[in-house]
Amino acid sequence: MSGINNIVILTGAGVSAESGIDTFRDAGGLWEQHRVEDVATPEAFARDPDLVLRFYDMRRAAIQTKRPNAAHEALARLDAAWPGELLIVTQNVDDLHERAGAKRLIHIHGEHLNAWCTACDARSRWTGTLIERPACPACGAAGMLRPDVVWFGEMPYRMDEIYAALNRADLFVSIGTSGAVYPAAGFVREARQSGARTLELNMEPSQGSHWFDAARHGSAGALVPAWVDEVLGQ
Ligand code: APR
Repeated sequence: MSGINNIVILTGAGVSAESGIDTFRDAGGLWEQHRVEDVATPEAFARDPDLVLRFYDMRRAAIQTKRPNAAHEALARLDAAWPGELLIVTQNVDDLHERAGAKRLIHIHGEHLNAWCTACDARSRWTGTLIERPACPACGAAGMLRPDVVWFGEMPYRMDEIYAALNRADLFVSIGTSGAVYPAAGFVREARQSGARTLELNMEPSQGSHWFDAARHGSAGALVPAWVDEVLGQ
């Protein structure tokens, strides 16, 4: 693609849907089965830590049974082959981008496979459960580990790096997100202000569709590999 050097890609739950991971807002999605305020806020954790820990233990176990799909694999291929700057900012807390081979990746909402110690602030890779209040591998404190997932009302991660990349972007592509949650939903406007071209790849128009120069609607598993082939000139 002519004149494109720096690419920022935002992904959401739609990129993992074809791997069998529930999205949040589609019919039957995750939030339909749970009230967000009951499981994904600091207040919920303070009110009923067992409910929250069991919810995330279940999600952490579930994602380990899933595999990356063609969209994850195509993005990893682009990451490996793209000579300019490239950053994948994912809202997803699964590890499917990494398992497909993506390297230039930021988890803005944290990661299911990390535990965060509220005593020493260390993050440790965690594939087991937290309900039994295990000790922190870094400081040994018991019962101080929480899911390393950004809850509603908490600060998303590495925003400075993300805004710096958006300000340098020539192309911003949003994949599989409803555009319902900020700050990620505002990234398209940030990119436009830097003069970037903007493209949305999603099953249906997102809430921010009108901010995009172009949009393609369909499944990520079909749209993303075709788009990556275009970008790589294949
Ligand atoms: N291919 C492409 N897009 C898809 C597919 C698919 N196979 N399946 C679903 N989608 C689209 C839906 O149409 C929807 O627009 O993916 C989007 C998923 O939207 P959400 O369920 O709202 O997920 P997301 O946008 O990632 O949510 C953002 O909200 O609850 C918080 O922290 C949570 O990170 C999450 C954030």
